[in-house]
Amino acid sequence: MIPIKNVRWGIIGCGAISERFMQGLAAVPNTEMISAWSRRPESVTSFCDKYGAQPCSNLDELLASDIDAIYIATLPDSHSLYTTAALRAGKNVLCEKPACINLSELETVLHEAKNNKLLFMEAMKPPFFPLYRKLKAHLTKDPIGEIGYLRAGSSIVGVDSNHPSFSLELAGGSIMGIGIYEAFLAADWLGDAVAVQAMGNIGDTGVDLFSIFQTQHNPGFAQFYTGFEVYGKGDALICGKHGHITIHQNWWNPLSATIAYSDGRLVELHEPFSAGGLNYEIAHFCELLNNGQTESPVISHDISRKMIGLLDKVRAQVGLKFKGE
Ligand SMILES: NC(=O)c1ccc[n+]([C@@H]2O[C@H](COP(=O)([O-])OP(=O)(O)OC[C@H]3O[C@@H](n4cnc5c(N)ncnc54)[C@H](OP(=O)(O)O)[C@@H]3O)[C@@H](O)[C@H]2O)c1
Repeated sequence: MIPIKNVRWGIIGCGAISERFMQGLAAVPNTEMISAWSRRPESVTSFCDKYGAQPCSNLDELLASDIDAIYIATLPDSHSLYTTAALRAGKNVLCEKPACINLSELETVLHEAKNNKLLFMEAMKPPFFPLYRKLKAHLTKDPIGEIGYLRAGSSIVGVDSNHPSFSLELAGGSIMGIGIYEAFLAADWLGDAVAVQAMGNIGDTGVDLFSIFQTQHNPGFAQFYTGFEVYGKGDALICGKHGHITIHQNWWNPLSATIAYSDGRLVELHEPFSAGGLNYEIAHFCELLNNGQTESPVISHDISRKMIGLLDKVRAQVGLKFKGE
């Protein structure tokens, strides 16, 4: 058996998701948060006071600290910059979704990870949840046949108008924030998209406020919506030749699912998650590190390519361009 090594973490970006990350980290044995850096010193101080990490006054100080891995929890506009810097400094990286603003940025990051023989994984949480794993395991024993259609969506209301989701400069918008989970579903169940159709509303700040997109894959089709304009926290529906699955809302933090077989059988799955749910992806990442692996077999580099490649096409049709594109 491989001895379990303590995984020493640093974090870049001390905002909302970093709190949930810490909740998850506390539930994973043999891990500790060593150092933190964020843009505003007050964010770093309050994070480090709360979690006992070493506050860093700049990026170089964080990169020089004695850590194995860095969790990148800033906004998408800076993910590739910090991931590249971390990899060049010899640190493994778990980067929040979307890992980059477009496929071209992602290719640069993946090249850097490969060159440095380091682990890089996009923090795409749904497949690590107990429900999702249970569902996949159940389907290997009692399959629903080849998947031919998938439908999912999420639209939320009441987001503060100052939230970074409304900032074009920070690569916000609902496609990037929420649509990335839908791109994951499409890639995970149907593989590469061979055709994409999309429409969306661009708001005053320049980002998309509501979008719909549909995709064609060799095995079938998918349809999605994403936005901030209507309240539509939906289920995910996954249809095969011999049955369909409903992953109940919120399917991106999955808790329960129903499988309806064409012979009339119904299978209900319910798998509660603990510690906010990021603990499962953190545990997976630490296990990969301990095994000396540089890529996750679950959120592989290729699935990250498929996700952002699909969103590139959706954004192009909706008319959403970021700085430098
Ligand atoms: N996996 C999930 O369930 C989940 C859920 C929500 C969000 N996310 C993802 O997590 C990321 C962060 O979202 P959030 O909701 O945590 O946003 P947030 O609350 O705005 O936090 C981001 C933090 O990063 C820091 N930051 C931003 N730009 C920076 C830069 N250029 N350099 C250094 N620090 C910078 C800011 O810290 P200062 O205070 O120092 O300015 C800010 O507090 C996004 O990519 C989002 O898509 C994931």
